[in-house]
This record gives sequence, structure tokens and C-alpha cells, in this order.
Amino acid sequence: KPTITVAKTAGFCFGVNRAVDLVYHLVEEVTSVKTLGPIIHNPQLVDDLSQKGVSILDSPQQARSGDTVVIRSHGVGQQVYEELERPGIHLVDATCPFVAKIHKIVAEHSAAGETIIIAGDKNHPEVLGIQGHCQGECYVVKDEQELLEVLKNIKKPAIMVAQTTFHANLWRKCVEIVKNLCTNLVFFDTICNATNERQAEAVLLAQQNDLMIVIGGKESSNTKKLKEVCAEFAETYLLETAEELDKLPPLCQYASIGVTAGASTPAYIIKEVLKTMSEMLNKQEGEMDFATLFEQ
Ligand code: F3S
Repeated sequence: KPTITVAKTAGFCFGVNRAVDLVYHLVEEVTSVKTLGPIIHNPQLVDDLSQKGVSILDSPQQARSGDTVVIRSHGVGQQVYEELERPGIHLVDATCPFVAKIHKIVAEHSAAGETIIIAGDKNHPEVLGIQGHCQGECYVVKDEQELLEVLKNIKKPAIMVAQTTFHANLWRKCVEIVKNLCTNLVFFDTICNATNERQAEAVLLAQQNDLMIVIGGKESSNTKKLKEVCAEFAETYLLETAEELDKLPPLCQYASIGVTAGASTPAYIIKEVLKTMSEMLNKQEGEMDFATLFEQ
């Protein structure tokens, strides 16, 4: 039978895990739990929560008296907090502490009149939330070119922060530019290592195993990236659920199998895949024994 090794970093990061746990605890305790936007981009988990009575608000204005409103790990801008400070609304803040730290940095520096530069994706909810804690001039740059453009217009002291999932190499390039061109710009490396650590461990597993199974949404960009990096070293398959294991070659033909999962894959889906894998292996092994008996 092949050995199976599961990555320690498979699945939710600390911040997402904390937010999801919080919602599951809340539904046990109170009624009318609502999340501001889907708590996570995983349809199975969102469905499960909806069956437990959790609904999704598209905007803070939709909250009503008696609601418990959860802010997800990406965080939100200051204005959203103000809109939810209404009588009868119970606000539960599941903003990841690493994101909340960025909010604090930009709020303090923009209150002091400094310009804020955010290295990140201007459409990402986390970046919109960070922008929502800036009082004055604020720019979002996605790469070195955009940073160079912005730097041409900055006259005041400025700071630069990064979206927590910003690409580490791109960030290094941006920091180099700032170091070479500016004397009045301070940068804060606010990249969270959860994504990089998950990827590094996946590469290591792919180097040590014949087969890699990556569990996660086919549309999830971080899951696709995991598959890509693993495929360089081992035969790799991306599965959304345990049912898809049927489409794989017989697992017993491999000597070792590594398993990892994307950032939005719930633990119970990972467990289901592992359970089905072990059932399949037992069955395949039984069939092999039977075939050998027959040959003799
Ligand atoms: Fe996750 Fe928080 Fe990092 S949500 S990716 S632990 S910033």
C-alpha cells in the first residue's frame, strides 16, 4: 500500500479558520446570524451554513435590528463599521488580526497627513477594506510600473503596505524601487506567510511522493497555483470532492501519495477524501490479492 502524507498547511489559514469557527459557534448560540458577503469562497461550506440558517448580506444597509452580523476575515473599511453601529445590531468582527494590523498602520499614518500606497489588487475586498481606513491620499498599485507612475505624483511623506496575499517577488521589486527613488517613504512588509508556506510545503511533498492530490475549488486561484507547482515534480490531480477520486488511476500503483488543499478547502472535505482514499486502497488491495490467487 502507498504511504499517504498530508500537508500540515493544507486548507484554511489561521484567519479563515478563526472566522469560520466563529460563525459555526454563533449559530449554536443565537438566531439570525448574517455574514457580510460569503464567509469564504467555498460553495459546499456556504451551503452548509445556509442550511443552519446563516444568510449573506450584500451590504451593511441590509442589516436589521436583531441581526448578528459577522465581518469576514478580509476586513472592511471604517464606514462599514459606522453603518453597522445601529441599535439592535450585534456586530461580530472576524477580521484577521494580520489585516486589522494593516488597518491600524494606514489609519495612523493617513491621520498624520501621509500618503498611503497599497501594493495589491484594487478590486479585492481586503484592499477595499484597507482603503476604507485611509483618510487622505491613497493609491493602489498592482506592480512596479504602477508604483513608478504613482511615485511621480507624490509630494508628501508616504508609506507603502502590501495586501496580505501580495506576491513576494513583486513586493521585493517594489521595495527596491522605493529604496532607490524615495527618501520620504517608509514601507511595512504586511504580506502574510500562510500562502507561501502552503506552497513551499506542497513543493516539498511533490518532491518526495509519486502522486500529489490537491483538494480545492477548480476556480480557486491559490488551489490552481498549488497544482501547478506540484505538477513540476510529481503526477498531480486536482479534486473538488471525494467522488472525483474515481477518475484517478488505481491508487495502489503508487509507492507514495502526498495530499494538500487550497486555502478555502474545509477540513471535512479533506477528511472525506482521505477516508475514501483509504477505502479505495483497501478494496484495490483485496482485488489484487484475489487476482494473484487466481494466477497461482
Ligand atoms: Fe489568512 Fe489572515 Fe494570512 S486571513 S492568509 S492568516 S492574513
